[in-house]
Amino acid sequence: MGQKRNRLLEPRDLDLSKTHPGIIPGREPELRLSIPRIPVSEGAGGRIIPVCEPVLDGNEAAYVARAVSSGWISSAGKFIPEFEERFAAFCGTKYAVACTSGTTALHLAFATLGIGPGDEVIVPTFTMIATANAVRYAGGTPVFVDSEPETGNLDPGQVERAITPRTKAVVPIHTYGHPADMERLLAICDKHGLYLVEDAAEAHGAEWKGRRAGSIGDVGCFSFYANKIITTGEGGMLVTDSPDVARIARNLRDHAFSEERHFWHKFTGYNYRMTNLQAAVGVAQMERIDSFVEARRRNAARYTAGLAGLPGLSTPVEKPGFKNVFWMYGIRLDEKAFGLGRDGLRRELAERGIETRTFFIPMHLQPIFFKAAGGEYPVAEELCRRGMYLPSASSLTSSDVDLVVEAIRDIHAGARR
Ligand SMILES: Cc1ncc(COP(=O)(O)O)c(C=O)c1O
Repeated sequence: MGQKRNRLLEPRDLDLSKTHPGIIPGREPELRLSIPRIPVSEGAGGRIIPVCEPVLDGNEAAYVARAVSSGWISSAGKFIPEFEERFAAFCGTKYAVACTSGTTALHLAFATLGIGPGDEVIVPTFTMIATANAVRYAGGTPVFVDSEPETGNLDPGQVERAITPRTKAVVPIHTYGHPADMERLLAICDKHGLYLVEDAAEAHGAEWKGRRAGSIGDVGCFSFYANKIITTGEGGMLVTDSPDVARIARNLRDHAFSEERHFWHKFTGYNYRMTNLQAAVGVAQMERIDSFVEARRRNAARYTAGLAGLPGLSTPVEKPGFKNVFWMYGIRLDEKAFGLGRDGLRRELAERGIETRTFFIPMHLQPIFFKAAGGEYPVAEELCRRGMYLPSASSLTSSDVDLVVEAIRDIHAGARR
């Protein structure tokens, strides 16, 4: 590229081996095709049980074909309003605004709520990077708060202590499908005049006191990435009861073209438009969303029964008054009591063809946030050291759940010998 005046972006890295020894998970274990194919006619060799995979055997292909043959493949076309209406009805909100991802739904939410430079937004340190990044995209500053031990969700007691005159919003995530403590978070946000934005990327259909995730705060944001409870490949949705929030978010997602004049812009907008092709997949997924949620709950109950009594292994909870959709079935390991650590169990499962993932690495330990974060986050760090999730797709069969349970029991017995 020759001599340029500026240098390319430099990565930032971080060595945590002295301050937080052993906290960063080891390398991803290599998966073996060890699960026998049944019936054998399905092909030679074994298979794996993936941690997640989409279920696309309904009307997805037919609706996409319909969108293609109509010629409406960009962001106009009838599947988009249909998907938005169905999703709003599912959540119990008045409005839904489809966009390109869960991340852009969050960014649209923060931009619409007027969050910008100088504003602080409280987010859990135990989350996926997008929650915190979206605050930065809007120009705001993410302020990290630790989790409750039981669910891994934002700890309301600590939220209250983190509020300053610059705080504008609180953003709980509904970790792995279990809603955050919305009762206390609503009370805190009401008391301090703060927006409550639900990052419901992992919680389609989850409930608190019968109210659906995403519909409880001022705005809810969802992801439709391929591993989510429903998918559009990539995609996201913002839901709200506020006509003003819906109107501004809708405008911002489409370059903020003005109503009175086409190439006239009174906001800095974005191109965050979902395509009609993606919405076609979304409509087909909405036809089956209840069965996907039920499958995840059924498999979770089977895992919990199968893993009961294993020393040092704790299984996910469903607190009274909540509906957990178990987007991912997360377990935690106490190395001493179980006989093997989290990374060891993952390696052994991978040898047997069973894919797993570690829990999040908290935001305050990320190279991009470490310096600014400060504070102490013992719960999130413990979750990071001990947590992993098991195969959790809606298509997972009960015999696959049993295979995973047997493998874990066998590995535990081997570790004890
Ligand atoms: C809690 C949380 N927030 C936001 C996102 C971002 O969603 P997307 O990947 O669709 O941008 C995810 C995705 O995994 C997530 O788990």
